[in-house]
Amino acid sequence: TTATDQLSRSALLFLSRQSNLKDVATRLKPFRELASRFIAGETLEEAVDAVKSLTERGLMASFDHLNEAVRTPQETRDEVRHYQRLLARIDQVGVKANVSMKLTQCGLLFDKGLALQNARAVVADAASRDSFVRVDMEESAVTQATLDIVRELHAEFGEPHVGAVLQSYLRRTEADAKALCAERIRIRLCKGAYLEGPQVAFPDKKDVDANFVRCMRILLDSGVYHGIATHDERMIDATLAHADRQGLPRGAFEFQMLYGIRRDLQERLVKEGHPVRVYVPYGKHWYPYFMRRLAERPANLWFVMRNLMKG
Ligand code: FDA
Repeated sequence: TTATDQLSRSALLFLSRQSNLKDVATRLKPFRELASRFIAGETLEEAVDAVKSLTERGLMASFDHLNEAVRTPQETRDEVRHYQRLLARIDQVGVKANVSMKLTQCGLLFDKGLALQNARAVVADAASRDSFVRVDMEESAVTQATLDIVRELHAEFGEPHVGAVLQSYLRRTEADAKALCAERIRIRLCKGAYLEGPQVAFPDKKDVDANFVRCMRILLDSGVYHGIATHDERMIDATLAHADRQGLPRGAFEFQMLYGIRRDLQERLVKEGHPVRVYVPYGKHWYPYFMRRLAERPANLWFVMRNLMKG
């Protein structure tokens, strides 16, 4: 990555947290248009339609109701009800899908007890339907609290119903990967998408990638069903090579990618017989999620700029 890319990345991640900007930006047509590439819609039914067409292409899904704007206990309870409605709808439609959820959505930033209680209600519902809740990972300030809650839910509901996410940009992640694998907790491994300082995260992309490969091997060697979440072909090739060396059968783990990114790669892996799950975000509060996607590839921004100039 060039210095300009680094700078745009930090700037975009900074902007992703400015809620006052959100209201203006989300009204701009070119901005909304580009967003629709990454967001499956604003409503549950739009997301269901998107997942139906993924299913037709042999892909599995994980629904994610976007809402990083929750501020009150009432709003967190609305999120729980939304997820319960979503789980019921998944059952009804019969698509191969589970759900992803953020603990800040459950109130983690203002009341950890409430966050646990809310997350428990969602996982209990998922478990009763034999489904699965992936607890997304957010900023490093909440990593420990998030893993604590996943551990508690895992103890209560078991391996098939709840799992964690680890980010290879964090220095602590290799140790977390070893510990969670020993406890047989399912992990989604990704690189990490938030703005983090050099004390907690590797500043150089090559170190993030090297750590991804190290952690991927820990996951694949653990005998637990994990998700390898990346669009980076070098990471995917390293994963396939390691799985081959270890003689792992197809289906011992799954690949995961984001809605709207590298469809070609998603389909190629499916054709080669690997399970692939697409993360399908939807909802009204798509601004911060979308800004993180722009930050991953600042070139995406030129598309918005060009169209804004055109008027
Ligand atoms: P990298 O950024 O190196 O990109 C590799 C290639 O992928 C690029 O060259 C490009 O071709 C393509 N690509 C990647 N991002 C793109 C974009 N935005 N637009 C267009 N092309 C793009 N993070 C987190 O902190 N917590 C979480 O819980 C999750 N959850 C999650 C689930 C799933 C299923 C995925 C795939 C990713 C996440 N992430 C996440 C995001 C993750 O941390 C990371 O930011 C992105 O996946 C981008 O990193 P890559 O591994 O794709 O590599």
